Amino acid sequence: MNRQKIHLIAAARPNFMKVAPLYHALQGEPWADVYIVHTGQHYDMNMSESFFRDLRLCEPAFHLNVGSGTHAEQAGKVMMEYEKVCAAERPNLVVVVGDVNSTMACTLASVKLGMATAHLEAGLRSFDRSMPEEINRIVTDALADLLWTPSPDADENLRREGIGSSRIKRVGNIMIDSFEMLRSRIVADTTVCDLGLVPREFAVVTFHRPSNVDSAENLRQLVGLLLHITSHIEVVFPVHPRTLKSLRSFGLLTRIETCAKLHLTAPLPYVNFMNLLMQSRFVVTDSGGIQEETTYLGIPCLTLRDNTERPITVRQGTNRLTGPAKVRTDLEEVLNNGQRRHVVPELWDGKTASRVVASIREFLL
Ligand code: UD1
Repeated sequence: MNRQKIHLIAAARPNFMKVAPLYHALQGEPWADVYIVHTGQHYDMNMSESFFRDLRLCEPAFHLNVGSGTHAEQAGKVMMEYEKVCAAERPNLVVVVGDVNSTMACTLASVKLGMATAHLEAGLRSFDRSMPEEINRIVTDALADLLWTPSPDADENLRREGIGSSRIKRVGNIMIDSFEMLRSRIVADTTVCDLGLVPREFAVVTFHRPSNVDSAENLRQLVGLLLHITSHIEVVFPVHPRTLKSLRSFGLLTRIETCAKLHLTAPLPYVNFMNLLMQSRFVVTDSGGIQEETTYLGIPCLTLRDNTERPITVRQGTNRLTGPAKVRTDLEEVLNNGQRRHVVPELWDGKTASRVVASIREFLL
């Protein structure tokens, strides 16, 4: 059997837990030579390295070191750097995950070189083109040869865009594989205890979307909301670098630093964060991945966005979209009603990586 060279593109924090289960599953296949390509979109220890360590990922075979920049700068640098690697290495398959700038940029570079390209977490749509991720999703899915989707709505979105069924394969949610792979370490972890918190008597809050944190007015409102939540319950707030920058430049940091019921932390490693999440009473977030993780774990989630590319988490899961006008009412309801009835979506079962491997085998061999 010919050995197949596979590139797994890892770029930013939410990518690492999508790449890891596939990396480990492919390691067990005698026909697969797997190489991790890190674009360097995220580069801080707590946005990148700690995830490699927790998820037992090997050192990247290629590091593109692109760093931060405007969208065009970042995507342009990734294209230029990955084109060199891709042209020299000629992988049999390039796998991109998620919806960050590097996902789109590596897809463009590899497809133009004629390399087979697959997108893991394809088909998600918020139908909101002001979100940079939506543009990345549309471009990536238009170009990739193989589209692995997490849910039926994603299949439907792709078909509506005229993509033939032969390119679409529903595999489930790969992030659940990462959680299950590390469940025993997550359960044994002591982050909740180390922060002096009592299980189910605290909330977790995260936000980093440009629409929420790049505007002084919106961020001021969110800081008001944070302080309001602490009048009911203790809050842990791991602060994303983008959010920290804005809090500093809009002069909002001291307001939250002095609140005794608010635990500000740096961005947390995966195991520590999941330990917090699974024992929290509820979560307030604008993240994509957290909407899915809370649905899987049955933790109520208030999402500070007008729309979601993950509607299944609202229809079947524990997620609820909210905004400035209704967040306080939603909060009351979550505080009073606790657990919401929910159904874990089909194929969110920790076995997605093996379905992806089967699909790769069918495609390549
Ligand atoms: C990116 C993704 C977003 C994802 C998020 C998770 C895009 C368009 N956005 O947004 O989909 O939800 O990652 O974090 O790809 N920074 C650091 N250290 C780092 C990385 C970033 O300090 O390791 C700072 C830089 O000042 C940078 C800013 O954070 O300018 C934003 O980083 P960037 O990668 O551009 O976007 P994110 O907001 O992280």
